[in-house]
Order: sequence, then C-alpha cells, then structure tokens
Amino acid sequence: MGALVGKVAIVTGAGQGVGRCHAELLAAEGAAVVVNDISERAEETAAAIVAAGGRAVAQRGSVSWWADAEALINRAVSEFGDLHILVNNAGFLRDAMSFSMDESQWDSVVDVHLKGHFAPSHFAALYWRSQAKAVGEGGDLVPRRIINTTSESGLFGGPGQSNYASAKGGIVAMTLVHARELQRYNVTVNVIAPRARTPMTVANPKFDEPESGFDKYDPANVSPMVAFLASDAAGDVSGQAFIVLGDQIHRIRPTTILSSVTAGEQRWTVADLIAAKDVLFSGVAPGVPTWGGPPM
Ligand SMILES: NC(=O)c1ccc[n+]([C@@H]2O[C@H](COP(=O)([O-])OP(=O)(O)OC[C@H]3O[C@@H](n4cnc5c(N)ncnc54)[C@H](O)[C@@H]3O)[C@@H](O)[C@H]2O)c1
Repeated sequence: MGALVGKVAIVTGAGQGVGRCHAELLAAEGAAVVVNDISERAEETAAAIVAAGGRAVAQRGSVSWWADAEALINRAVSEFGDLHILVNNAGFLRDAMSFSMDESQWDSVVDVHLKGHFAPSHFAALYWRSQAKAVGEGGDLVPRRIINTTSESGLFGGPGQSNYASAKGGIVAMTLVHARELQRYNVTVNVIAPRARTPMTVANPKFDEPESGFDKYDPANVSPMVAFLASDAAGDVSGQAFIVLGDQIHRIRPTTILSSVTAGEQRWTVADLIAAKDVLFSGVAPGVPTWGGPPM
C-alpha cells in the first residue's frame, strides 16, 4: 500500500523535470494526479502515469492565469471528487544582472513563480474552507497539503537572479502566511528548495550524471520528500522549509533572529548605534553574506 492511497493531488509544471518526477511518485504512492503544465508535455506525463497503472489526467494551463488556476482546482474535484494535495512547482528562468534586466524579464519571472504559486493556492484554500465549513465546528477535517517550491537563490541570493530570487523569497514568506492562515482548516503548507538536473539546469556541467555511483542530481531524488510532506505522517509538519538534493535533506529556518540590541525604552541615536555595532554583529563580519547553501 502506498502512502497516498485515496488522495487527489495536483502538480503544476509537471510536464518535465522535477514536477514530472513528483507527479509520477505521487501516483505510484496511490494518489490520483492532475498533471498541469503550460505545454503539451502535461498530456505526456499523464499518459506515462496511466501506462504505469496509475490514475492521472492532464490539465493544461498557466499557473499565473487566474481563470486557469481556478479551472485546475475545479478539474481535480470534478475528475476525482476532491483535492488533498497541491504541489506548486511550475516556473522558468530569465536570468540577467540587475543592471541588464529588462521589464519583461522581471515581470514574467515574478508572474510565473509568485503569482503562479498564489493563484492555485488561493483557489485551493477557497475550496478547502468551503469543505471545512460544510463539516462544521468540531467535525473531523480532511487533511490537506500545499507543498511550495522555492530555490536556494531565493534563500541566499543568487547573482543574476533579481527576478527569480525575489519571487522565490516571496514564496517562502507566502508559505509562512498560508501555514498560519490555513491551519484551522487542517491544511499544512511547507516549502522545498530542490537542486537537480532538469531542462532548467542541464547546461551546468556540475549537474552531469556520474559515470558510476549515486546520481546525486537525478530529479527523482527530490520527490520522496514531497510525497512524505503530502502524506498523513507529516500532518504535524507545517510552515517548514527544506533544501532537498540527492541523498540530503536540510531543514532550514530562513527567518531567525541572530542577535539583538535594545536602546532601553528610548529611541536609538546614530552615535549609540555606531557604538553598539560590534554587539549587534557579535564578532562576525557585517558584510555581504557568503552563499549559505550546501556545497555542490
Ligand atoms: N532544477 C533545479 O535545480 C531547481 C533549483 C531550484 C529551484 N527549482 C525550482 O523547481 C521547479 C521545477 O524546476 P525544474 O528544474 O523542474 O524546471 P523545468 O524547466 O524542467 O520544468 C518546469 C516546468 O514548468 C512548466 N511551466 C512554465 N511556466 C508555466 C506556467 N505558466 N504554467 C504551468 N506550467 C508552466 C514548464 O513548461 C516546465 O514543464 C521550479 O519552480 C524551479 O524554479 C529547480
């Protein structure tokens, strides 16, 4: 018996890469999957799942189009009778340094990632709230899940990715907001930062498949964590963030107070802040933080 038998899941951007691996594993674990992508590859992934004995349908559309996002949630309910798991994954890159980035590069990437996470989450939350209200006060609420996708770029600041890192950082904040908002409806909301060889990253030789041994950057390595977070076993895990690559899972807390100074019930003066600088930085260099992710 799989960990997700009886569940209905949506995976966005599941036509290739990490999203396709998520859709295939969720289906192998027993979930019925609505495979979303903006491209015809949505149908290919759904067909591959069905050919392997799973349950899947394709729902083509853009995650950042309000009407498409609503149609995506409705398709899960009309096709499979409910929605338990939403995996927000779709997106693309349009990299440029801040001094070279044009307006369309900024708008398109922020749109596909940030709005592309919010729009399906909004319609899923709306549906789940209506279901919870139908159950009524004190009734047994069905477990629901949102699993979002950030990036180490959004956590640590990837040069050349003002658009992408800003959107991905926003997705971490959105995860915390939605975890708090939807707790009362038995919805958990978590976020992962994958690292894998996909059409998005294949140009980087560091992701190349090794000639022998464990293929650290196989995108299928990321999906078990998503299936775990989607399962009933993770019902108490919410508002959490993870870097997932190869055989490694790093639990992180991006928003932690590192050190504090207080002025003692009065406004700080600039002179006092200059004097307190060494205490605030507690002996560490106050300059640009170095990349904080796990090494390649
Ligand atoms: N691959 C990595 O190492 C890595 C690292 C950090 C974060 N991520 C994130 O993981 C997610 C998946 O990345 P990937 O590497 O598999 O990328 P990918 O390019 O292989 O796949 C992304 C999929 O999203 C689809 N898509 C694009 N715009 C869409 C839209 N508007 N609506 C619906 N689908 C759309 C594409 O058609 C594609 O099939 C992305 O959010 C990405 O930012 C990936």
